[in-house]
Amino acid sequence: MPRFSQPALLADLALRAKWIEAMLVEGFVILTDMPDVDEGLTETAEMIGRIRPTFFGEYFDVKTHINPTNTAYTASALEPHTDTPAEEHAPGVQFLHCRTNTVERGNGLYADGAAVANDFRKRDPEGFKVLSEVPVPFFSEHDTYDKRSRQTIIELDQHGEVSGLTISQRMLDVSDLDQELPDSWYPAFCRFGSMLQEEQYMMTFLMKAGECMVFDNHRIMNGRAASTAESGER
Ligand SMILES: [Fe+2]
Repeated sequence: MPRFSQPALLADLALRAKWIEAMLVEGFVILTDMPDVDEGLTETAEMIGRIRPTFFGEYFDVKTHINPTNTAYTASALEPHTDTPAEEHAPGVQFLHCRTNTVERGNGLYADGAAVANDFRKRDPEGFKVLSEVPVPFFSEHDTYDKRSRQTIIELDQHGEVSGLTISQRMLDVSDLDQELPDSWYPAFCRFGSMLQEEQYMMTFLMKAGECMVFDNHRIMNGRAASTAESGER
């Protein structure tokens, strides 16, 4: 797993180029020795580009809450997914800065969704075709917002190569597919979904305070095992 020390990156442009290369090849890196202040994350992201806000603004604070309004705030397990699929332009490169983590369990899960999609294409060409051609509705709604988008599960570039994916079982909306499609789309989605959870594709580890996972949100899916909310803070 590629690792870089944040202060070393600030001081060394050649090392920064290696970070960018690792993002293109592996799709993710772990940064270590992050400063424990809000500005530390901004300073880090701006080393490789401009910050593009999501609906929630330039950053999103993930904490375990007692009365959660978002599953991110709970201690429950989250199946691997890409983030904010209900936004027309979901984030590209995401930074997950771990400030504190003293809870028990709750390992992060990551999988290279583009690699799985490429294998799915060989294993199940018909399923691949329907998941890469048919846009389906995603949603995210709450008291003060209601976001909607249509995305294909597997994204292809102009050469027909897999360029990423959009997947979130929680934010997939009620289907409005044409009548002949559900019989092929749903079974294909289930076959792809179970392939995404195969152990050979899964990376799992516990993030420590001071680390920052930087990943391509269209390629690397993120999730987590359940943690014990009362056991600490994160
Ligand atoms: Fe997520």
